Amino acid sequence: ALRIGILTGGGDCPGLNAVIRAVAKSLMRQCGATVIGIADGFAGLMEAAPRVRELTWESVSGILMRGGTILGTSNRANPLRSEADTARVLEHARALGLQALVVIGGDGSMAIAHGLSQRGLPIVGVPKTIDNDILGCERSFGFDTAVATVTEAIERLQTTAESHGRVMIVETMGRYAGWIALEAGLAGAADVILLPEIDYDVEAVAAVCRARAQRQRYTLICIGEGAKPIGGELTVQRRIADSPDPIRLGGVAHALREALEVRLDVEVRATVLGHVQRGGAPTPFDRVLATQFGNEAAQLVMQGAFDRMVTLQEGRLTSVSLAAVAHGSRCVPQDHPLLRAARQIGVSLGEPA
Ligand code: F6P
Repeated sequence: ALRIGILTGGGDCPGLNAVIRAVAKSLMRQCGATVIGIADGFAGLMEAAPRVRELTWESVSGILMRGGTILGTSNRANPLRSEADTARVLEHARALGLQALVVIGGDGSMAIAHGLSQRGLPIVGVPKTIDNDILGCERSFGFDTAVATVTEAIERLQTTAESHGRVMIVETMGRYAGWIALEAGLAGAADVILLPEIDYDVEAVAAVCRARAQRQRYTLICIGEGAKPIGGELTVQRRIADSPDPIRLGGVAHALREALEVRLDVEVRATVLGHVQRGGAPTPFDRVLATQFGNEAAQLVMQGAFDRMVTLQEGRLTSVSLAAVAHGSRCVPQDHPLLRAARQIGVSLGEPA
């Protein structure tokens, strides 16, 4: 019978447990496979004594709706960084008798998965990110949950903004992609949505706040952590762990607050949502998507279709080659229909007048 390893890599995300459950149940039921859970992502395979445990039907039952990952994760471990680490991971996989590995992770993990596949370890990837920015994947699980969390936060900020007649800024995650800010901004009825894909004009944002102060009293601004003003720099606050890119993210809400305070008479407050967006139970949509991804990954393993990532394209479950998605990320295209809709209903994207 098959002996298959499974690990979760990179930042955690609601729905990881739903994937683990579906992969394990599908493999156990359909081919009596033994499923080996690896602790803390690639770190668990790199250490001198690999940290692993067999997953049983019972151990993956009752975890569908639980946030986080029962396997643990890490975003520091990269076995491709040195030849010795790569060799150790390949040797450990062989010693554990693993015929294949299922890697649930983001772009970094998919790049590692592709590298290890090329070195002879059969791998199936499952895309994971709240940011929804993985190449070749139009919807990753975790995104819907993050959007729901941010939407609720914006709604809560709306009542307090209205009471005080304030400008409220809410900063979302998303790295260099504005998907969370865009969808949650629209769902939460933000007046201004600022994205990494469209540099904003601070004067245009101030003008929206001034006009609204006359009529509705308050203004809600939703800003993605990678957004920046025209000609400006990203504010230096937080660095993506292990990223080769020196640009730091976060802190953009407070930078914008300072820029608006000197331009406006009204009070301005900023809220940085942070890791709240990654925690908690997945939404029903994400539970279903994660279950489909997990089951599909198990099918690919049984078919022997390796060096591939399960994905969703044009609403259909399919798979793509890891080589095609391992490097790069997916931002909001300038002609995206949601940008047009936002402009047409009078939501400002911070563009100059
Ligand atoms: O990629 C997911 C994500 O949550 C981003 O939205 C965010 O910028 C980053 O990870 C945060 O990473 P960390 O948890 O290492 O601070």
